Amino acid sequence: MPHGAARGFRVNRDRPIGVFDSGIGGLTVAHALMSALPNERIVYFGDTARLPYGTKSSATVAGYAAQITDFLLKRDVKMLVVACNTMAAVALAVVTSLSPVPVVDVLDAGAQAAVESSRSGRIGVLATLTTVSSEAYDRAIYAHARDARVVSQACPLFAPLVEEGWLDHPVTELTAREYLRPVLAEEIDTLVLGCTHYPLLKPLLARIAGPSIVLVDSAETTAARVAELLTACDLHRTAPKEPVHEYYVTDLPQRFRAVGALCLGRPLPEVQLVHW
Ligand code: DGL
Repeated sequence: MPHGAARGFRVNRDRPIGVFDSGIGGLTVAHALMSALPNERIVYFGDTARLPYGTKSSATVAGYAAQITDFLLKRDVKMLVVACNTMAAVALAVVTSLSPVPVVDVLDAGAQAAVESSRSGRIGVLATLTTVSSEAYDRAIYAHARDARVVSQACPLFAPLVEEGWLDHPVTELTAREYLRPVLAEEIDTLVLGCTHYPLLKPLLARIAGPSIVLVDSAETTAARVAELLTACDLHRTAPKEPVHEYYVTDLPQRFRAVGALCLGRPLPEVQLVHW
C-alpha cells in the first residue's frame, strides 16, 4: 500500500504530481507516468547541483529530500513520487512525515516487481553505494519473499556516466562488465535496476547479463501504483486541456534539457533553474 493512501485527502484533482530525483534518472519514472497517465500534469525536480546522491551519507540525503519535498509542496502538488532509490532507501520517513499528500516510492515497487519476476528467488540488485549500504532493498525483497537470496552491487560510476549521456559508450560497457561480474557469478535470474538512472543503460546491461536474466526497472510498477492511488483517492485529473509539465533543476538547465530529451524521447520545454 503506498504511503498516505489511507489518510483520506480532499485536494483538487487538477493539481500536478511532484516527481523528484537527484538528476535526470527520475525522468525514467516521469516517462512511465506520462505513458500510463497521459492526462496527469507533472512537476519534475532534479537536484543537478548536488548529485550524485548515491555516494553521500543518509543524513545529507535526508536533508536534501526534505528541502525538495518542501519545494514541491509549495507548488501545490497532489501527490509526491520519490523517483530516486537513494532517497527512498534513506529518507522516505522524512518525506512522508513532511507530506500532507500521498507519497509513492520506487524502491518498494522495484522489490515487488523483482519478486514477481524471479523463479529461483536469486535476485541481483544494482544500486548506489548509499542504497546498498542501507540494505533497504534486501529488507523490501525479504518482506515480499522471505526465502529470496539477494546479491547487491554498488555501482557508483553509473549515475555520472548516465548524466554525461554515455548510455552506450565503451567506458560505460567496461564499467558495467566489472560491476556485473560478481553478481552474475551468483546465478541470479532477476536483476533489479535499483537506481532510476540505470534503466537508461538497459540495452547495454541486457547485452552483458544475457537473455536468461530479467532486468527489473521499477518505473512501470511505480506508475501502476500511482494510478491505483489516484483511483483510490479519486484524484485523477479531469481538466480537458493537455497537461503542461514543468521541470526544475538546481544547475545546468540547458544540459538537463538536452540529455533529458534523450531519456524522455521527446523535447522538453524550458527547464527552470532553482536558486536556494
Ligand atoms: N537516481 C538516483 C537513485 O535512484 C541516484 C543517483 C545518484 O544521484 O547517485 O538512486
